Amino acid sequence: MIAVPSPHKRILALAVIAAGLAASAALAQPPAPAQAPAAAPATQPTEFAICSACHESKAGASPSLGPNLFGVGGRKAGSVDDYDYSPAMKAYGATWTADTLQAFLLDPNKAVPGNKMDYSGASPDSAKAVADYLMTLK
Ligand code: HEC
Repeated sequence: MIAVPSPHKRILALAVIAAGLAASAALAQPPAPAQAPAAAPATQPTEFAICSACHESKAGASPSLGPNLFGVGGRKAGSVDDYDYSPAMKAYGATWTADTLQAFLLDPNKAVPGNKMDYSGASPDSAKAVADYLMTLK
């Protein structure tokens, strides 16, 4: 018998390797933009890791450096009782919606001049993703 693998077997082996590479490349792709059904659990946007340095986002958690963001959607800005807001945030007067949150996260100092959140702002895409995510925290 001949010990050298037949050309057929080598081609087959290459094909198997190529298929494996293609499959792992497909797995490495970022997830498709979220067009998730309403009931699907919200995925935390990457940018939210920065927010978490200063904000809790679980029900009932005490404020950290910033107010707890759980339930922020639909609540009046500067209205959590156990948090000491800046006069600017208390005077802002808006209700947090996907739109007001997006504007605030895009440029906090422009949206609420004089507020004390030390965050310079997100890219438009991140601001929208985080605003949409915040609206699901309830
Ligand atoms: C360096 C700390 C810090 C970071 C980072 C930070 N925040 Fe804040 N955030 C604060 C502080 C402090 C306040 C209170 C501002 C005030 O009273 O003027 C605040 C206020 C807010 C408010 C208003 C809440 C309310 O109850 O009215 C929202 C919404 C908010 N932050 C969202 C975010 C999001 C989303 C991110 C991430 C993209 C983020 N923050 C990043 C510190 C931070």
